[in-house]
Amino acid sequence: MSVEPEHLNRRHMLKALAGGALGSLAVSQLVHASSEVAPLRTVKIPPRPKNISPEILAKDESFWAQVALNYDKVQGIVNLEHGYWGKMSKQVQEVFIAKTEMVNTQLSVYGRRHFKDDLAHSTNRAAQALGAENEEVVLTRNATESIHNLMRQYNNFEANDTVLFADIDYPSFKDTMRWLAKTQNVEPVEVILPAQTDQSEILDIYVKAFDKHPNLKLMLLTHVSNQHGLILPVADIAKAAKARGIDIICDCAQSWGLLDFTIAELNVDWAGFNLHKWIGSPVGVGALYMKKGSLEKISPYPGEIDPNNTLVDKRVHTATSNFASILTVPTAIDFHESIGPANKEARLRYLRNLWVKEAKQLPNIEVLGGEDDASSTGMGAFRIKGKVSLDEAKMLQQRLENEFNVFTVVRVGLASGCCIRVTPQIFISAEEIKQLTLALKSL
Ligand SMILES: Cc1ncc(COP(=O)(O)O)c(C=O)c1O
Repeated sequence: MSVEPEHLNRRHMLKALAGGALGSLAVSQLVHASSEVAPLRTVKIPPRPKNISPEILAKDESFWAQVALNYDKVQGIVNLEHGYWGKMSKQVQEVFIAKTEMVNTQLSVYGRRHFKDDLAHSTNRAAQALGAENEEVVLTRNATESIHNLMRQYNNFEANDTVLFADIDYPSFKDTMRWLAKTQNVEPVEVILPAQTDQSEILDIYVKAFDKHPNLKLMLLTHVSNQHGLILPVADIAKAAKARGIDIICDCAQSWGLLDFTIAELNVDWAGFNLHKWIGSPVGVGALYMKKGSLEKISPYPGEIDPNNTLVDKRVHTATSNFASILTVPTAIDFHESIGPANKEARLRYLRNLWVKEAKQLPNIEVLGGEDDASSTGMGAFRIKGKVSLDEAKMLQQRLENEFNVFTVVRVGLASGCCIRVTPQIFISAEEIKQLTLALKSL
């Protein structure tokens, strides 16, 4: 669990006050502590049976039903669209509301006196959870801010260079890569991955692309695709890229919290993350990771100065943002870790496999994405065979919503066509997944 800075520590304040230490406390501390409200609701994570593997625990409906009690759920529809942003647990939401009230009460008195320290505390907690060093991480407003800064501030292009991205990458990032190629006068290359694939095939496709384009300088590499939850073998692709001098911007917007990993396992120097998806922080928190010693090729944010290229926080200029969201980061990570990242990953994959197993038996349904556990997450996608247009996908999404009460989303961007993305959360039950499989059988 994280340690709160002293000036935020309510128990410390109460003890000091009870002990008659009022006179010795600085006024700034009193102002700050006076609006530290709302004791935390007890965390209701059920005890985990000892020595049980995440894969076995994933099937324990009663355990996950108790976990689900920590979330307020929408009634009347099965929501299988949790790839957009995450849900705060009740405890996290409560802290967020308390922090919002505190910031709104104290305004600049808090902001000018204490926010810097609290921002550092939240940043360090994120770095620790990622397995990074504190100096390697800066908090941003979202993954887009992190990744866009890396792309725009990349300063190592030469004439005849090439940049690479893939059809499974986040659509707006593909657009930014095309924009980058145009403005930097370099060549864009798009790699196409099969609609169903696995780790070795993906690696093979990337390596062939590297060999075909010897002037490749910079690539976008997505850890988990927003289209169908496909996992890319980032570390292996990075090894092959580094051997050829290719720089990598890694998009981990969808992967942190959906998968259990540390940054070292990815073997990349630069990556962008979201905390407001699977980590369950309030909306408005992302992170930028830059490995120590790797800053030279990414210029400081326009106007910022970092002559020795050692300061990651000079790569962004976030300006005024949601203070309370940032202050809630340690609580969100604590809650995420109390469930267990490996348990979350296994439960979500289990829920995906429940509907995918059934869908693969249906002659009219095409399941997209990873073909094995190493390539697939809890997020998945499907379409009716041959129906790849946007209109057809939209019609299918509407049928699922209106006829079967199952909420999903259309994804556009795969070279193979449009699809329906299905994304359960850890508070979704196997029973709710059944509602989707029943729907699939009636299509
Ligand atoms: C793979 C991927 N990259 C980037 C993003 C952008 O995230 P954000 O809008 O939080 O910046 C998303 C959002 O869904 C995503 O799934």
